[in-house]
Amino acid sequence: MRLNAYLARAGVASRRGADELIKSGRVTVDGKPGELNTFVGATDVVRVDGREVGKQALRHVLLNKPRGTITTARDPKGRPTVVDLVGGDVRVVPVGRLDRDTTGVLLLTNDGPLAHRLAHPRYGVEKTYVADVTGEPGDDVVSALAQGVELEDGRTAPARVRRLGPSRLELVLHEGRNRQVRRMLEAVGHPVVRLRRARYAGLGPGRLRPGAWRELTRDEVRALRRLVGL
Ligand code: URA
Repeated sequence: MRLNAYLARAGVASRRGADELIKSGRVTVDGKPGELNTFVGATDVVRVDGREVGKQALRHVLLNKPRGTITTARDPKGRPTVVDLVGGDVRVVPVGRLDRDTTGVLLLTNDGPLAHRLAHPRYGVEKTYVADVTGEPGDDVVSALAQGVELEDGRTAPARVRRLGPSRLELVLHEGRNRQVRRMLEAVGHPVVRLRRARYAGLGPGRLRPGAWRELTRDEVRALRRLVGL
């Protein structure tokens, strides 16, 4: 693993912060100054300012994201982030993103390979959204959404869509484009009023109230790994 990833995994700094530490000459790998492209092998000893840094345990967190939080590790404007909500000493970062006003299931982890695959379109992880919309979409709208709608970045893939109420739809997608659900519903003339992610890769919020989080169980992590072929 690259040195900056190792330091980030160890909870020392973000990857960018780790690059700064490396550039300032404070990091050694087996006694030699670490470089930005240094690769850390299984038996290498990494030190920052002379203190040994160990690999930290992997963490997998499920957050019920509340409205008004930003899905990023740090917001330059100082707005509350999803990372601020999650306690514990070991840093985790979000897998993919939800818009500021979208609520619901969000995973955070320091498990790089798993996060990469979960977020990669190739693995088509299933995401279920519940959208309250303006107006009352008819059957034609439901079937148009299910078949795919034309967006500026191309047509959306087929999805499962059903009505949960006159102005409430459930959409099950395997894609994860930026603001996809909002753009799809805008394209069919029923802009989103409220959006919640009800499930991600089979995981729902359970009893977590908005803003609450929990560690995944070992079985849940195993199931996620299996899902993406790890
Ligand atoms: N689609 C959106 O439009 N927003 C989200 O937050 C997630 C999916």
